[in-house]
Amino acid sequence: MSGSRIPGFYKLDIKERVEEIKAFASLNKEDVSLLEKGLSLEKVDGMIENVYSIYPLPLGIAVNFRINNRDYLIPMATEESSVVAAASNAAKVFRSSGGFRASSSKPLMTGQIQVTDCSLEKAASSVIEARDEIIDSANQQDPVLVELGGGVRDVKARLIDDMLVVHILVDVRDAMGANAVNSMCEALTPLIEDLTKGRVNFRILSNYAMERTARAEASIPLESIGEDIAQDIVSGYRFASLDVYRAVTHNKGVMNGVSAVCLATGNDTRAVESGAHAFACRGGIYSPLSKWSIDDDLLKGFIELPVAVGIIGGGTMHPMARLSLKILNVSSARELGEVLASVGLAQNFAALRALASEGIQRGHMRLHARNIAVMAGASGVEVDKVANLLIEGEKIRVDKAREILDDLRKNG
Ligand code: MEV
Repeated sequence: MSGSRIPGFYKLDIKERVEEIKAFASLNKEDVSLLEKGLSLEKVDGMIENVYSIYPLPLGIAVNFRINNRDYLIPMATEESSVVAAASNAAKVFRSSGGFRASSSKPLMTGQIQVTDCSLEKAASSVIEARDEIIDSANQQDPVLVELGGGVRDVKARLIDDMLVVHILVDVRDAMGANAVNSMCEALTPLIEDLTKGRVNFRILSNYAMERTARAEASIPLESIGEDIAQDIVSGYRFASLDVYRAVTHNKGVMNGVSAVCLATGNDTRAVESGAHAFACRGGIYSPLSKWSIDDDLLKGFIELPVAVGIIGGGTMHPMARLSLKILNVSSARELGEVLASVGLAQNFAALRALASEGIQRGHMRLHARNIAVMAGASGVEVDKVANLLIEGEKIRVDKAREILDDLRKNG
């Protein structure tokens, strides 16, 4: 397999980019045809209700990523320009110092069973005493998961106001886990009612995946980005750690990368986003998901976030998602979580570096101008030529781009 460092990738045309991805990920003819044609209306009818069309989003590849000494090409689906370029640039910067080091906890998801109308303390002790019986009963619901080494690991009883809430902690292996956990919670209803002499109301997975987190860290020598910029990045991080207005935007930048990879791989972006934002609040104050510091002449970044994602089942069975997962070549949901954490940290670094230097508008404008050039019909080398002239003329509009393109084609 060739590496993910592909200089000038962004200058290639789409066919050439696909060739590079094909070589990297050993794609076959059918894969390439799916990339070119996308899905038909017939294929998507039934994926949701009342389908009447398809909403195409651009699918970009972030290059240069090296995580735990392995190269990755990272598919990202997003409507926002600059995101893929920013992730790729940041990955290039960190690559020269060995890339990202990432790790993750076991794939444990929590299911909640709400019990009302019971004598709380007594019901809680009955649940705890019947821990093994509850685990056995839930596991019988999903023998395949158990065979794969997963299943219920623990049972907890929480008293919340006038209700008892039973938690089951389930190792969901490589699935996101919503189906497995929800089925188990529902199947446990008669047993829990019998044990608690109460009434079971809600039975549902929690998206606060506190037990299923991924971490990534990376560092670069100060001289590689300049000491002043590094200090301004740390100061900008401190700003986010002291002010919720800034922290939300800081984390939005992180999620630009995380959500784009989730979407490309068919994962539930809302599950990951709601989990991440709650995690950012775990200390009682909404805080940045990442941390930046200067130590030993190095700028060091660290991130941790919950990663309720899978590589099998649910949305990951969408043919485009399967193809993204093939390109990513992750062998477990944990590895995917580690990729997400690394992309989130890279995305965050790119935003902080831009904010600490030229600001983000210049880069955005360049990409916006390129998009407008493409909309006006420019292709290949024309795109940058038209974009540069649009920026020089300070009118980034399609009609202007058409004029410039006509002129270029007439006069070269
Ligand atoms: C824009 O989509 C994301 C940023 O606002 C993130 C940040 O400010 O850190 C650039």
